[in-house]
Amino acid sequence: MNPFRFGNVVTGEYFTNRKNEIKEIVSEIKAGQHIVLMSPRRYGKTSLVNEAIKASGVKWVRINMELIADEVDLANYYVKNALSLSKYEKIKHYLKNLKIQPYIQLQPTTNEISVSFNTEKKDLSTILSDSLQLPETIAVSMKKRVVIVFDEFQEIRRISPVLERKMRGIFQYHQNITYIFIGSQESMIREIFQNKKNPFYKFGRHINLHKIPEAEFSDFVIKRFSSQKIDTRDIVKDILSFTDCQPYYTQQLCHEIYLLGDKKILTKGVINKAVDQITTEHHADYSRWWGSLSNTERKVIIGIASGNHNPTSQEFIRKYGIKSASTSGSVVSKLIALGTLIKKNGKKIKIEDPFWKEWILKNRRC
Ligand SMILES: Nc1ncnc2c1ncn2[C@@H]1O[C@H](COP(=O)(O)OP(=O)(O)OP(=O)(O)O)[C@@H](O)[C@H]1O
Ligand SMILES: [Mg+2]
Repeated sequence: MNPFRFGNVVTGEYFTNRKNEIKEIVSEIKAGQHIVLMSPRRYGKTSLVNEAIKASGVKWVRINMELIADEVDLANYYVKNALSLSKYEKIKHYLKNLKIQPYIQLQPTTNEISVSFNTEKKDLSTILSDSLQLPETIAVSMKKRVVIVFDEFQEIRRISPVLERKMRGIFQYHQNITYIFIGSQESMIREIFQNKKNPFYKFGRHINLHKIPEAEFSDFVIKRFSSQKIDTRDIVKDILSFTDCQPYYTQQLCHEIYLLGDKKILTKGVINKAVDQITTEHHADYSRWWGSLSNTERKVIIGIASGNHNPTSQEFIRKYGIKSASTSGSVVSKLIALGTLIKKNGKKIKIEDPFWKEWILKNRRC
C-alpha cells in the first residue's frame, strides 16, 4: 500500500511530528482558552486539530464554514451537530430550548438527525441566537467541556455581514466551550481577530502553524518508504528541497515517487520523473490557472518562477517589463491574498505550488 497520503485529513502513521503543537492545543482546551490557528493552505491545520482533540478526549463539533450557504443553513447545521453531542434519548429535552422549532427527522437505525428551520425572515435572529446557544446548554447539562472547531472561519464574512457581532455576543458568555477558529487566509483572519474595530478582537490565543521541520520530515519520509522496503536516504534531501517541507506537496511527491519506484534504492532521477508525471497529470488545471492571469500577473510569476524573489525591485521590473514597482507590488499583494504566491520567512516571495512552478518553467522551455 502507498505509504503516503495527500488531500484529506491525515492521522496515525500518515501523520508526523506536531508534538509541541498538540501539547499546546490540548492544554489550551483544558484551560478553556479559545484558539485561533492560522497557516497558509494545506500545512496540516485540520489534521493537527483532529489529533489534539483525540488526545484530549473531549466531545467536539466541527463546523466547516466553507460548506455553509447562509445563516439558516448555519443554524440547521449547528443544531444538528450540537444534538449529536448528546445521548439520542435526550434530544427531545434539548429541543425544548429552542423558541422556534425546526423540522427534525430521526433515522433510528443510524441515529442520524436532520434539522431544517423554516426560513421566515422575521424569525432569523431568534433561530440563530438559539442555535448558537445550544451547545453551551448541552455542555452544562452534560457537565462536560465541549470543543467547537470552525474550519475556514474567514468564510464568516461571506455568510453574513452581521454574523461576527452576533456570534461574539453569544460566545463571550460560554464557560463550557472552547472555540477553535481555523483559517488559511491570513490577512482576513488577522483582520477579524486583530483589528480593534471588529467583534472578535483578541477573542482567542493565536497559534501560527509552520511547516514541519526538515529533520523530522526527513525521518518520516525515510521511515514511510522503508516500511515498503524502499531506501530513500540518498534522495530525501532533494525531495524536501523541491517541496520546501510543505506537508501536502511533500506527501504528493512521495506518493508519486512510490508509484514510479520499481527499485529498492532510489536515486535522484525518480524525483524528476515524478514531478514530470504530476505536471502532466495536472496540465488542464495548470493551464486554466495560467489562462486566468493578466499580463502583468504573468510577468511577475515568470520572474519569480525564474528565481527572482524581489518583484518590486528596479531590476525586476526592468527585466520583466512591468510598468512600475507599485504595479508589481499590488499584483503581488493580490496574488498573496489568493494564495498563488506566498512569502517565505516573511520575506522572499515564492510560488505556492512547486509543481505549477515547474509546469510554467517546463512550458516556457519548450
Ligand atoms: N503532520 C503531518 N504529517 C504528515 N503530513 C501531513 C501532516 N499534516 C498535513 N499533512 C499533509 O498535508 C495535507 C493537508 O492536511 P490538512 O488538510 O490537515 O491541512 P489544512 O491546513 O487543513 O489544509 P486546508 O488549508 O486545505 O484546509 C494532508 O493530506 C497530508 O498529506
Ligand atoms: Mg483544513
